[in-house]
Amino acid sequence: MDGMEKTIWIIANWKSNKSIAEALDWVTAVGPNIPTSDHLKVVVCPSFSALSEVKKAITVGNFPLLVGAQDLSPYEEGAYTGEEAAENLNQFVSLAILGHSERRENFGETDEMVTKKVAQAIQNNVTPLMCVQGAEAEVPEGCRLVAYEPVFAIGNGNADTPENANQATKALKESNGSDLKVLYGGSVDAGNVASFIKQPDISGVLIGKASLSAQEFTKICQIVSESK
Ligand code: 13P
Repeated sequence: MDGMEKTIWIIANWKSNKSIAEALDWVTAVGPNIPTSDHLKVVVCPSFSALSEVKKAITVGNFPLLVGAQDLSPYEEGAYTGEEAAENLNQFVSLAILGHSERRENFGETDEMVTKKVAQAIQNNVTPLMCVQGAEAEVPEGCRLVAYEPVFAIGNGNADTPENANQATKALKESNGSDLKVLYGGSVDAGNVASFIKQPDISGVLIGKASLSAQEFTKICQIVSESK
């Protein structure tokens, strides 16, 4: 890559998948094969039930992998049955995916709730990664990492074009500040990842289905590292 090397994020969103045994198999297969680079940040976001074991396995293996959550509570800890407070999650995670379109669609999550979650994350030293569905989205104060994930491109092999994704990224940076880092998500796999990260304004990828396979995810990390 030319000139100043940009940092690329590769984030695995496992969604509601994997037992602890399956999660540990993945960490054992992927961990030793992630290229080490100051300019590559690789994050795995398991379901809550696997967080603790995944974190432990990564620490023991000393793998260059960060751990993220797929959501967190809009509230501090207290009487909120079923919620995971950022002040406890931060034992395991350094990042949290917030406002994913699947949470908005299936669980009625609103902009107001996402804004509260972002605030909880920031207060508890968890980096918020906010998902936005279009270029016109408002990014809450303090959130400097977003993923542009158009709903039409999720989970169906029908990725947005890299050029379109770059346009949306540019627009998000123009309205929210040039220091905003924008990732692309939606049907990213080993076959198309290079075309996205080569775009000048895109800072990485958020990957669902293709991240579940240790082999595919390792390949993605290697392709990114070689195309930088
Ligand atoms: P897919 O990669 O399965 O399209 O999912 C994208 C996504 O929703 C990541 O958060």
